[in-house]
Amino acid sequence: MKTAICYYSRHHGNTLRVIEAMAEAGDAELIDVTARSAVRLEDYDRVGFASGIYGFEFHRAVADFARKYLPQGKPVFLVYTYGGAKGAGAKAVAKIAEERGCPVLGEFGCRGFDTFGPFKLAGGIAKGHPDALDLEDARKFYRSLG
Ligand SMILES: Cc1cc2nc3c(=O)[nH]c(=O)nc-3n(C[C@H](O)[C@H](O)[C@H](O)COP(=O)(O)O)c2cc1C
Repeated sequence: MKTAICYYSRHHGNTLRVIEAMAEAGDAELIDVTARSAVRLEDYDRVGFASGIYGFEFHRAVADFARKYLPQGKPVFLVYTYGGAKGAGAKAVAKIAEERGCPVLGEFGCRGFDTFGPFKLAGGIAKGHPDALDLEDARKFYRSLG
């Protein structure tokens, strides 16, 4: 099963750690949506979209990437990390998938260390996350996709 996971992970690399754990559990090519100019998602059997949550949703770069490259009918899955309030989470990307007739195989989210804005003064929230248990859950989720 050839898998791509297209991601945006900037704040602390939390989301990247989660998808690296997934790639350990099974094969996956990790594609930084800010680093690649052109990509052929047609070449993969399924495509993951992954992001930290910024302002209660996936980073816009991931939704833009999905809009640009996601082929019709391609099975997708969604992955995110968040400090404390995921808000709409993956909804924008899920909507793009729905519009293209792409089945959503599953969604995985966990907490991720957050030192944004006022949280910085308190030393951050969700300290230590993703932790070993989060990464094990991520591997289990990835294996459960088949
Ligand atoms: C600009 C900014 C906005 C954020 N907005 C939210 C938010 O709305 N809800 C939340 O739970 N976490 C929020 N966070 C925390 C991140 O979602 C969390 O730290 C996440 O794990 C970052 O992923 P990354 O390290 O892969 O970039 C925000 C962080 C930053 C830097």
